[in-house]
Order: sequence, then structure tokens, then C-alpha cells
Amino acid sequence: MLLPSHSHRRPPLPRRGARGVSFGLTTAPRRAGWLVVVLLAFVFIAGALLRRASSSSRAPSHNTVYDGDRPTAAPKITIFSAPLRPPDGSPARQEQAVRSWLALPGDVSVVLLGSHPSALALAGRLGRRVTVEAAIDSSFTGTPFFHSMVARAQAADSDICVLLDAEIVLLPETVTLLQKFSRFDRDWLLVSLSRNISSLNKAREIPADKWAADSSGRGLIMAWNNPRNPLLAGVLPSFLYGRGAHNWWLTHEVLSSEMRLVFDASSLVLGVYPEDFSPSHRVGSSNSGRLLDGSWEYGVNRHLAAVYGSYCYPSPPRRDHSPMLYEVVKHSEDYMLSKAEDPTFSNFVRGKQQNVLAEVDNPWNNMNIWSSDHLLQMSYSSGTSEAANVPYSLGTLLEFVSDENRSVVLGVAGASYRDMLMSWVCRLRHLGVTNFVVCALDQETYEFSVLQGLPVFRDPMSPKNVSFDDCHFGTQCFKRVTKVKSRIVLEILRMGYNVLLSDVDVYWFHNPVKFLHSLGPATFAAQSDEYSETGPINLPRRLNSGFYYARSDRATITAMEMVVKHATKSNSSEQPSFYDVLCGKEGVNRLGDDRCLEPSTNLTIVFLDRDLFPNGAYRRLWDRRDVRSACGELGCFVIHNNWVNGRKKKLRRQMVSGLWDYDPSSRMCLQSWGDAGSFRVIGQFHVSDDMDS
Ligand SMILES: *[C@@H]1O[C@H](CO)[C@@H](O)[C@H](O)[C@H]1NC(C)=O
Ligand SMILES: *[C@@H]1O[C@H](CO)[C@@H](O)[C@H](O)[C@H]1NC(C)=O
Ligand SMILES: *[C@@H]1O[C@H](CO)[C@@H](O)[C@H](O)[C@H]1NC(C)=O
Ligand SMILES: *[C@@H]1O[C@H](CO)[C@@H](O)[C@H](O)[C@H]1NC(C)=O
Ligand SMILES: *[C@@H]1O[C@H](CO)[C@@H](O)[C@H](O)[C@H]1NC(C)=O
Repeated sequence: MLLPSHSHRRPPLPRRGARGVSFGLTTAPRRAGWLVVVLLAFVFIAGALLRRASSSSRAPSHNTVYDGDRPTAAPKITIFSAPLRPPDGSPARQEQAVRSWLALPGDVSVVLLGSHPSALALAGRLGRRVTVEAAIDSSFTGTPFFHSMVARAQAADSDICVLLDAEIVLLPETVTLLQKFSRFDRDWLLVSLSRNISSLNKAREIPADKWAADSSGRGLIMAWNNPRNPLLAGVLPSFLYGRGAHNWWLTHEVLSSEMRLVFDASSLVLGVYPEDFSPSHRVGSSNSGRLLDGSWEYGVNRHLAAVYGSYCYPSPPRRDHSPMLYEVVKHSEDYMLSKAEDPTFSNFVRGKQQNVLAEVDNPWNNMNIWSSDHLLQMSYSSGTSEAANVPYSLGTLLEFVSDENRSVVLGVAGASYRDMLMSWVCRLRHLGVTNFVVCALDQETYEFSVLQGLPVFRDPMSPKNVSFDDCHFGTQCFKRVTKVKSRIVLEILRMGYNVLLSDVDVYWFHNPVKFLHSLGPATFAAQSDEYSETGPINLPRRLNSGFYYARSDRATITAMEMVVKHATKSNSSEQPSFYDVLCGKEGVNRLGDDRCLEPSTNLTIVFLDRDLFPNGAYRRLWDRRDVRSACGELGCFVIHNNWVNGRKKKLRRQMVSGLWDYDPSSRMCLQSWGDAGSFRVIGQFHVSDDMDS
């Protein structure tokens, strides 16, 4: 293979005496290299023929690895890369690198992944062959998710995908090599370590395994063909891009999935990068004091690498030589594959593995940086100096996410609602809403949320070792947990932030924050739970405490203190306390048809127009064939998925209506470029007893 097409129409039989006929091939002397190549060709032809035979009854018409029927047009190559923003990345270097990609021969285009404005600016300077894909999932710190990037590349309309760090300059040989490989009638993944430019001259003298890649794996170039075919048998976990482990993990898993041939082209120089990459956050420097230092993200990746796949748990019997791994070597002016006998690359992967294992003993020790203990200190000992040691207190999160008017959106969720939480978060991401925080009611939800990149904190008051599902209706635990929301809201109001509390079963069509804020100070705006289409909407107990906007002013804080106090004493959920305190029992504080005035604070309670903020019963909107367009006609900001009995029905109703934005099986937000058909609505959810209304 990969030899000029005039030779070797038919591979000769192996000669006796040539060592390694069956895959001990690299032990063959170099001059027997052509034989190696020919033998491999034979294997591949067999594979190709088998595939053909199984997929169609047409008799195979050729017997070379080149697909003779295929026009020799240059393959379409799409290069994907996520430019990191400073200080992790340098815009100048990125521009230089992308220019080198555009200068490559052949049909090459570039897709920059991520929503940062600098990516758009860069694309704007470089012309039509560079586009930006902003719909990549990313953590609240702005770090893109590797699984989302790979999924986007897999959706490419392209013959070959290349994925690499945005600072790597590609050399023309990359395309030469990929064009040759594109004629391969098999699925493959090619990996190559790029070189540090200052040592480029010594490139030929230093063995490939001595090319220390950046610890985050940033120097690795990956390319693969037929992107619509899977890379690996399992699921790619939610690695944070550029935070270590993911490149090695992926390569290892592709190899062990045995669905693609893996070519290690590290003996070639395909890419170069400056003396070093832009400084990345390093493990162990978490206390640098910089707001939102990203070092915890390395802990996330180590954790994922350790618990998913077989990267850290090689299952016996361990094969030293993967039947799928080949080294690409240059021979004269052509390339050859050799069985990686003492695979430098595999050793490299394994070396990385040891590092991951060494650091992974208890990932949560490294990760639990928003510890609830700390939060307790924050809340109840008025912020001592200890607070400064932990970069992600609730206060830090609020400071980081809040908008220009110090407003935040608060979602509260426990384990049984985590898919709904994620759908809600995905919707906010789609709308470009970034000023949200999530309160996790239990450790499971907390850890899940960290891995999904959410700005999450634990409720300091909810018992650590009790899961939400153990909290049955009527128990003390249940009462505490259902009253978490008002308590947390009050806490945040006291810290000086306005809060839009939104249950995670509230679907957002548009961002309502501006509108709600415009209602003015000393105004508390809440959804009305009134179901009759006509008549007042502020009747007793019609205040829904699952969606309200509370401003951090004296009147509101005082009123919320009264609500929380009332709720603590009551033995029902917190919702009735809101109405009874703010509008008075039997609604004595009612004002007109849609307001109340709380007399001791002069707080005005506004029941929101139900055309704009419909509850789950209003106009039976959820029963419409097309809920989205029905709400569109009314001008809804949101719709609440309440007034439905049982969690299962609630989930089902929302997914069937299409007001659902999360794929739990891949742990990614649904994207327009995604394969929506792979998402199955029914049967994926762990649904337990309903607990609220
Ligand atoms: C780059 O190469 C120089 C010279 O060989 C070396 O001193 C330096 O450590 C290298 N940097 C990296 C990141 O490998
Ligand atoms: C929770 O932990 C405390 C202290 O460790 C223990 O006393 C209590 O019984 C535990 N509760 C449950 C439900 O396990
Ligand atoms: C912030 O407040 C100003 C002045 O009240 C208002 O014009 C603006 O829309 C608000 N912004 C948001 C995001 O609420
Ligand atoms: C609380 O519950 C008990 C028994 O379930 C009931 O007797 C009592 O009246 C309730 N208290 C309030 C304030 O509703
Ligand atoms: C509420 O408003 C009334 C009338 O404007 C005023 O007399 C009273 O002092 C106000 N109360 C508070 C707590 O601001």
C-alpha cells in the first residue's frame, strides 16, 4: 500500500525466512520493509473484501488497497480547533497557526470551536474558509468540553477530520500523508506528536518517545477518516478541553475498541509549536488567588480518565501489541506502516496512564473546592480569612456569574431531577444566559454538576449523607429540603444579589431577567398558579414559589425573612408560606386583581401576567400539539411544567413536546448539528416517586 500504483497489483506470498510474517513485522530488517507493507496490504484487502461482501452482493472488482472506483480527487479535510483565551492561549500564535493550516495544499477548511468573541474575530480576519461553531458545550469558566468538540467533528461533512491545539503550525507534509491515507478502505485514527520549534533542527536525532508532550497533551495532533463512523465503542466522558488526560484517554480507547486502525506518525514532523505552549493552569497551583483559577479542571479530567473506559484499568489478558496499532515511518519518499513492536507510542500512553493513576487516589479531595464546610463558614461566621483559601465559595461564584445589575438565576435540584436540571441548563446556554448558579441538594448532584461544568454549590443545611430520594414525603428531611429554596434565596439576597429563582421544570423561551428587573425596587414578582382563565390571579394560595424574582433591597429581604421563618414552623411545603406572609391569610393584603401589598415592609407583590409566564394549567398549553408555537403566539417568556402528577409524566410531557435540550446518554446538550435521531425520549430516565407538585 501507499506505494506508487503501478507496482504490486497482487501481493506476493510471504517468503520463508522473513521474520515476523505474522505481525512481528518490525523485527524484519529495514530493507524488507516493502514486504511488510505488502503483507499489510494483503490483510487490508481481505478486510475490505469482507466488508464489501457483507454490505452488497456485488463481486469485488479489484484487489489493491486503493479503491479503484474512487476518483482521485483530493479528500475534503476539515481542521477543528478550540482557541483558548488568554492566559491559556495566545491570539497571535493562534492566528499564525490557523494561517499555516490555510496555506496547506488541497481541500482544507477550518472550524474554530467555541463562543468566545476572539474566535469570531479571528475567523473574520481569515476569510471564508474559516468558520466558527459556537454551539459547543462549555463549563461556566468558558472551558469547552472535549466530548462536545469531538461530537461536532464527527458531524462534519468531510472525508477527514483533524483535531489539534490552536497553536500548532502544520507542515505541508500533513496533507501529503492524509491524502495517501485517504485512499485506505478502512477506518483509522492517526496521531502524531508535534515538535517544539526550538529543537526542530534536532528532530531527526531524538527518538519519538523523547518528545515530551505538554502534560495536558496539547502537542498531539489527531486525524481520522469517515467521521460519521464511530471512534470508539463506549461513550466519551465530559473531559474539559486542554486540561489533561483526554487525548491519551481517547487514543487508548480507540485502540482498545478495535474499531479503527491507529497510526502513530510521531516519527514524522507534522506540526510545530513555539518554545512552549501558552502557560496553562498547572495542577497544584489552585491557591494562586486569581479568580476562578482553572486548576481544579485537571482534577475533573483525572477523575474521568480513572473511572471511564479501560485507560486506568487494563483488563486481563493484557495484550502488549495491539493488533490495530501501526507506526508510520518514512521510507525514501514514501510512507510505510510497521507493526509497533516496542511501541514508543503505547509506552507513552502508558506513561501518562501512570501519572493519571498516581494523582487520582481521591479525586474529590482535589475537586471538592466548593466544599459545604466552607460554605457554612461563609454563611455563618461572616467570612473569616479562611475563605480566601478556597477560590470557589458561593460568594466567588456569585461575583463571577452575576450580571451588570448583580442579578443571578438560581436553580435548585436533587438527584432525581438531574436530567431535568441539565435540560434547563442547556436551554440557558442556548439563550446565552450565563448568570446562573445551581444549588445541589445532595452530594451526588453536586458531583454530577461539577462534571457537567456547572457553577454549583451545596446546600450547607441539607444533611450530607441523605440522598434526596431517601427524603420521603412527611419526613423531617423532606420538610427541610422543600424549604431549601427560600433559605438559599434569602442567603443570596443578603449577600447583595438579586435572585430569579426558577425551578428546573420551568422551560425558558426567552430570557426574562431584563423584564423582571424593570419592574423596579421593592417589588417581588412571582408566577401565578391560578388555573381559571378569567378572574383575579392573586387569590389565596395562588402564588407559585417555583418562579419569582426577588431584589436585594431592604423591603424584600425583610419580607423573605418573614417567609423563611413562617416556613420553618409550618409543616407543609414552603409555597403556602409565601402567600400567607406576603398577601395575608385569605388574601387580606390583595390589591386589585394581580397584586398584594405587604403592609409592614411596603413590598409590592406582582403576580406575573400568565400570557407571559403561564403555569402548567393555564389554557391547557401543554396539551397543544405544538406547545412552542402556542406559547410563541402568547409571547411567553417561560412555561412551567407543573400541574402534572408524577415525575415520570412531567419528564415525558416535556420531552414529547420538544421543549427538551439534553441528551443524557452522551451527557451533551442537544445541538442542531447533532444526530437527533440517536436521542430516544422514553426509557432512559430513572424515575422515582413524585415528591412535589
Ligand atoms: C523546547 O526545546 C528546548 C530545546 O530543546 C528545550 O530546552 C525546552 O525545554 C523545550 N520545551 C518543551 C516544552 O519541550
Ligand atoms: C448521617 O451521618 C451521621 C453522622 O455521621 C449519622 O449519625 C447519621 O445516622 C447518618 N444518617 C444516615 C441517614 O445515614
Ligand atoms: C440593568 O439595569 C438597567 C437600569 O435599570 C436596565 O436598563 C438594564 O436593562 C438592566 N439590565 C439587565 C440585564 O437587567
Ligand atoms: C402539623 O401537622 C400536625 C399533624 O400532622 C397537625 O396536627 C398540625 O395541625 C399541623 N400544624 C400546622 C401548623 O399545620
Ligand atoms: C410604607 O408606606 C407608608 C405610606 O407611604 C409609610 O407611611 C410607611 O412608613 C412605609 N413603611 C415602610 C416600612 O417603609
